[in-house]
Amino acid sequence: MTSFDEVFQSSVENPEAFWAEAAKSITWYKEYDKILDDSNPPFYKWFPGGKMNTCYNAIDRHVENGRADQVAIIYDSPVTDTLLKITYKELLEKVSTFAGALASQGVGKGDTVVIYMPMIPEAAVAMLACARLGAIHSVVFGGFAPHELAIRIDHAQPKVIVTASGAIEGVKTLEYKPLVDSAIEQSTHEVSKVILFQRDFVKSTMIDGRDLDWVELVSNSQPADCVEVDATDPLYILYTSGTTGMPKGVLRDNGGHAVALHWSMKNLYDIDPGDVWWSASDVGWVVGHSYIVYAPLLQGSTTVFYEGKPIGTPDAGAFWRVISEHKVKALFTAPTAFRAIKKEDPEGKFFEKYDTSCFECLYLAGERLDPDTLHWAEDLLKVPVIDHWWQTETGWAIVGNCRGIEELPVKEGSPTKALPGYDVRIVDDDGEVVPKGTEGNIVCKLPLPPGTLTTLWRNDDRYIQSYMTKFPGYYETSDGGFIDEDGYVFVMGRMDDVINIAGHRLSTGAMEEIISNHPDVAECAVFGADDQLKGQLPVGLFVVKAGVTRDGDEIKKELVKMVREAIGPIACFRDACQVVRLPKTRSGKILRGTMRSIANSKEYRMPSTIDDPSILDEITEYLTKMGYGKK
Ligand code: COA
Ligand code: AMP
Repeated sequence: MTSFDEVFQSSVENPEAFWAEAAKSITWYKEYDKILDDSNPPFYKWFPGGKMNTCYNAIDRHVENGRADQVAIIYDSPVTDTLLKITYKELLEKVSTFAGALASQGVGKGDTVVIYMPMIPEAAVAMLACARLGAIHSVVFGGFAPHELAIRIDHAQPKVIVTASGAIEGVKTLEYKPLVDSAIEQSTHEVSKVILFQRDFVKSTMIDGRDLDWVELVSNSQPADCVEVDATDPLYILYTSGTTGMPKGVLRDNGGHAVALHWSMKNLYDIDPGDVWWSASDVGWVVGHSYIVYAPLLQGSTTVFYEGKPIGTPDAGAFWRVISEHKVKALFTAPTAFRAIKKEDPEGKFFEKYDTSCFECLYLAGERLDPDTLHWAEDLLKVPVIDHWWQTETGWAIVGNCRGIEELPVKEGSPTKALPGYDVRIVDDDGEVVPKGTEGNIVCKLPLPPGTLTTLWRNDDRYIQSYMTKFPGYYETSDGGFIDEDGYVFVMGRMDDVINIAGHRLSTGAMEEIISNHPDVAECAVFGADDQLKGQLPVGLFVVKAGVTRDGDEIKKELVKMVREAIGPIACFRDACQVVRLPKTRSGKILRGTMRSIANSKEYRMPSTIDDPSILDEITEYLTKMGYGKK
């Protein structure tokens, strides 16, 4: 057996040979001219000259190669009491016909399509149909409010928006269509067509001349064939939180993406064609793009599409039921889902009710895996519990434990080792590599492997400035951490204003931008406080303008409402407090990091540049009253 270290070594010593070998598993209409074009760093191109189609690789070729009757998607929806199994042949029919429907509305190669949908198979159908046509999809998570959707519409400039009438979120019925209508109203970009999937439990009103009913449109459409695209052509844009209110449109290509994701299914997750794989996330997040839709289908396995929650739909045994009923081999979710289950059912009584002998491994990512959750899951499931670290930008894991190559021992607090293709280093603020065991900035030496971002959509400058400028020659991950003597990477958390709420990435900078629009607010700071269930929650401190005498609590309620309306419920912004002043440096920079340390009872060094150190006592008092920090 080849050891993991040998495979890793070959990937960094000769990346081109390594990825050329992996590329053999993808069907190319025309082979690439070159494996890597590195002539214009930091814009690297994998497999230039190659012609292929991602949808063909994810569906058609399996139908042609004997998997026509194998189930491709298991749609399990406890919230609507639905179970549906879609074979590869059926999926091909659905996707090609929906591609025809999109084409009938003028969508073609290079056009953009925004998809705002709940966890229903039609979301995957819409994504794959775009891929089939060479169109670029941009899926927006359903928990985002119209304002956020509008920002994405204006930036992505879609020809068509695909949506559904609504969703059931736990026990709540939510209407999506009014949100889409409002977003279109708020955006300046003209959206000519909205394709709407009507769900049984909530029917939407259609706008004449603009809105089209999914079922009706499809019944009048002819199947469309796969369009040949360049490996380097874009497959999708996925907006993710940066440090400001304007999200970053991460751009993914077709060829490198297909090669890397296919490689990861066996080598990282040990999933073979025909295996049942479940990623309990949402198509609106990168985990959903990569591991609910593309990777499992590229591999010819069966993917579970779960429309429900870990708890409450109907109980804390939901995950075990799905695993046992569909013979799931491995599950991928966020630690927060396990913390939710643990809170409801600490002794794991529900687990005992199900036969989960099919289950081989739990993969967790999206946020730091705390030791309690790790051990609780290990003790309950009695299978390996594997942490791995990645980002929307990379599209697949940077650090993990490649069970398909060699399962390495788990070290608490570490997602294990850098994956093949990623030359991970720790550097200090001057870009110097630090000794083993020393904390610093986690960076990856360029070029990044295939499947990672190629740029930010319509913003090459921001791509360079956000990721490639601070440490020339490296990709800046914005996470901090260290590497130990054995090469295990420990990820300690973000170094910027991005926070992680229940595995969802949000920007405190975006929340501050909204709060500062309140007429009574002079200035504010939002930062992440540790939370037992969701990992982090945002906390806001605000100073009112001179002369404002209104009750701080009233203002707080208005701020909470503003953030909910502008970003969405997913921001979970519920806690804020009026303060007299905020701690700042002498040059006027708000010391958010110091306040975050106080809120989380972490040791901090008094910033040498602080304007007035006594403010920190005041802030400690406020935060203590709010229930944070040292008692
Ligand atoms: N559409 C609309 N609203 C949504 C939504 C969606 N797709 N997803 C979440 N929301 C809403 C929720 O209804 C809730 O609204 P509320 O404030 O009115 O109650 C709010 O956004 C916060 O949602 P969430 O953080 O998910 O909290 P929760 O209490 O509903 O559930 C967990 C808590 C832990 C069960 C849930 O967060 C979970 O299952 N997490 C798994 C993590 C995950 O899948 N991460 C993806 C990356 S791997
Ligand atoms: P996202 O882009 O939404 O996938 O969020 C990426 C961020 O989530 C990373 O930059 C990390 O801060 C955090 N993250 C993801 N996975 C892990 C993990 N396994 N351990 C620690 N942090 C993680």
